[in-house]
Amino acid sequence: MTALLEIKGLTIDIARDNGPARVVDGIDLSLDEGESLGIVGESGCGKSLTMLSLVGLLPNRIKATGGKAMFAGRDLLKMSSRDLRKVRGSEIGFIFQDPMTSLNPVMRVGDQIVEALVYQKNMAKPAAMARAVELLDLVGIPAPAERARAFPHELSGGMRQRVMIAMGLAGHPRLLIADEPTTALDVTIQAQIVDLVRELKDKLKMSVVWITHDLALIAGLADRIAVLYAGTVVEDAPVSVIFDRPTHPYTRGLLASLPTLAGAAMARLPSIGGTPPEPGRRPPGCPFAPRCAQATAVCQTVPRLAPVPGSDPRHRVACPVVLQELT
Ligand SMILES: Nc1ncnc2c1ncn2[C@@H]1O[C@H](COP(=O)(O)OP(=O)(O)OP(=O)(O)O)[C@@H](O)[C@H]1O
Ligand SMILES: [Mg+2]
Repeated sequence: MTALLEIKGLTIDIARDNGPARVVDGIDLSLDEGESLGIVGESGCGKSLTMLSLVGLLPNRIKATGGKAMFAGRDLLKMSSRDLRKVRGSEIGFIFQDPMTSLNPVMRVGDQIVEALVYQKNMAKPAAMARAVELLDLVGIPAPAERARAFPHELSGGMRQRVMIAMGLAGHPRLLIADEPTTALDVTIQAQIVDLVRELKDKLKMSVVWITHDLALIAGLADRIAVLYAGTVVEDAPVSVIFDRPTHPYTRGLLASLPTLAGAAMARLPSIGGTPPEPGRRPPGCPFAPRCAQATAVCQTVPRLAPVPGSDPRHRVACPVVLQELT
């Protein structure tokens, strides 16, 4: 398999009056063609900024300052904003964290999809409208021709989320990035949306990156999971390996705090106390060390991701302490 996306050493800084504050500190991630990757980690660990940096949508005063992000042979971080605008939608579809801020409240949802298709695919308006209705149908919206004429506020949360997915899919992207697309929804609708994206991924042969806090939810969709902590990847492995053999103390803590699934088996692990570091206030060495019961003197050096001995070849962890125990 060839990597469709390969992020290496990505750093992101927030410009502050007293100097830059590092928020993403050397992320390495890769994604194969047709693969789905779940990205998990506590609030503020840099999940959204990492993905926004790929498509040139970082907020003001926040910049990717190092590393590269190769997508189908091109470095996204080096592309002009004009070229990136073309990549957005047509090659990389994005579903944003909050549908109400990313849908235009005063425009009918069908027209919003039409606008995207006309721009991304140079489609004529009538053909684009027919395609918009098809897309609304594809994402499971009943009476799609009628719903295309609705304004966002006339739809339920679940329906709006489906409209967002339809918009993300409109350009028939090779990669769909979904940033917590279901957080605001109730549990049954979350599960429906996960099922829907899994189905569409197979049907349209897309790669998917799915950002979430919710390890249990992602288990049904992801082939592989990357666990982020304070702007670094601390563990990366096939989904079954993450559940059967979580290795980084942080991943173990995350799993221990799950009420279901691994919860029973992991009941003896203490869940994680304390909070992650603020941007610009990273401790030297391992950023998790201040919260880690297993920390030793070696944690004063920044850990690198390394293969886990005796585990799946794709299982990597950034923790010298557990790696030492395993060798
Ligand atoms: N527009 C902004 N201005 C200043 N700081 C920001 C901005 N956006 C994000 N940050 C900071 O950058 C850090 C990472 O943000 P990011 O949005 O990537 O986190 P996240 O992992 O997506 O969190 P969540 O799970 O809450 O969505 C956070 O500490 C946040 O406070
Ligand atoms: Mg986020």
